[in-house]
Amino acid sequence: MATETNDTATEAKAAAPADTKQERKRALITGASAGIGEEFARQLAKRGYDVVIVARRGDRLDKLASELKEGGTDAEVITADLSRPEGVTAVVERLEKGDIGLLVNNAGFGTNGEFAQLPVDRELMEIDLNIRALTQLSHAGLGPMKKSGAGAIINVASTGAYQPVPYMSTYAATKAYVLSFSEGLHEEAKGYGVTVTCLCPGATRTEFQEVAGIGEDGIPGFLWMSAEAVVEKALGAAKSGSAIVTPGLLNKLTANLPRFTPRFAVRKISGAMFKRAATKE
Ligand SMILES: NC(=O)c1ccc[n+]([C@@H]2O[C@H](COP(=O)([O-])OP(=O)(O)OC[C@H]3O[C@@H](n4cnc5c(N)ncnc54)[C@H](OP(=O)(O)O)[C@@H]3O)[C@@H](O)[C@H]2O)c1
Repeated sequence: MATETNDTATEAKAAAPADTKQERKRALITGASAGIGEEFARQLAKRGYDVVIVARRGDRLDKLASELKEGGTDAEVITADLSRPEGVTAVVERLEKGDIGLLVNNAGFGTNGEFAQLPVDRELMEIDLNIRALTQLSHAGLGPMKKSGAGAIINVASTGAYQPVPYMSTYAATKAYVLSFSEGLHEEAKGYGVTVTCLCPGATRTEFQEVAGIGEDGIPGFLWMSAEAVVEKALGAAKSGSAIVTPGLLNKLTANLPRFTPRFAVRKISGAMFKRAATKE
């Protein structure tokens, strides 16, 4: 009992650097021009964080920054393409200033369709953004956090991380990487006072489906969550020091299904869903 209380207290302390250390109350969020990332920026601003927001569409970031500034938040904009080395370098340089207490690696996209027919350049761009940029930014963020013995990282994966997904093969594989990588970092970083949490959302109403070319009709209405609810769960989980958060009861069930179902059956079920969801063959 005593051990449990002590562990909880240690994790909570590690997870809430920005709430306990005034000077580190600044978050950097990638992919903040839309969807889940924009919602992270809004909810963090409401919780008293200053924010650095990153994406390619600078006009959207500028608009969000002006809105947040009106509410008293210091909002900095970095317009960067994180699928390109120079875009990642710009954000690495910002992280190296050492004042970011919470890093949200959220920028990402998916592609839907038969792999052999998808343009390979876009598949590689997906790997560069979902894996390469997230890895490099986690490294750049962790350096100063480790030095100060405080900080938190939220890496955004997906329920697709829990099993292979035919017709979204590259996407699911990138998210499996994010989940495994983040769990590894979680164990390493809690030793020096930093929390790493992996967020695994299911279907969430954002621009994601349009970008991925997934027909929304293929996903039943009851499976959808709002970005607001997803981000609330994520911030709560990071604050309590969790390694993984999968918001929504149905998503939790989906995430656990592969543990109790033969792998060939899991592949068939997920493949059938996403073959149907593809808007183009
Ligand atoms: N929505 C879902 O159903 C769902 C489910 C599971 C996981 N996720 C994950 O949640 C995260 C956020 O997605 P979302 O649902 O909020 O989708 P979204 O509405 O399409 O937003 C994606 C964000 O990523 C940014 N982004 C895309 N490519 C970029 C690049 N090359 N460089 C920099 N930023 C880039 C976009 O900004 P710009 O276009 O302005 O660059 C945008 O701000 C992603 O990692 C996604 O895989 C989403």
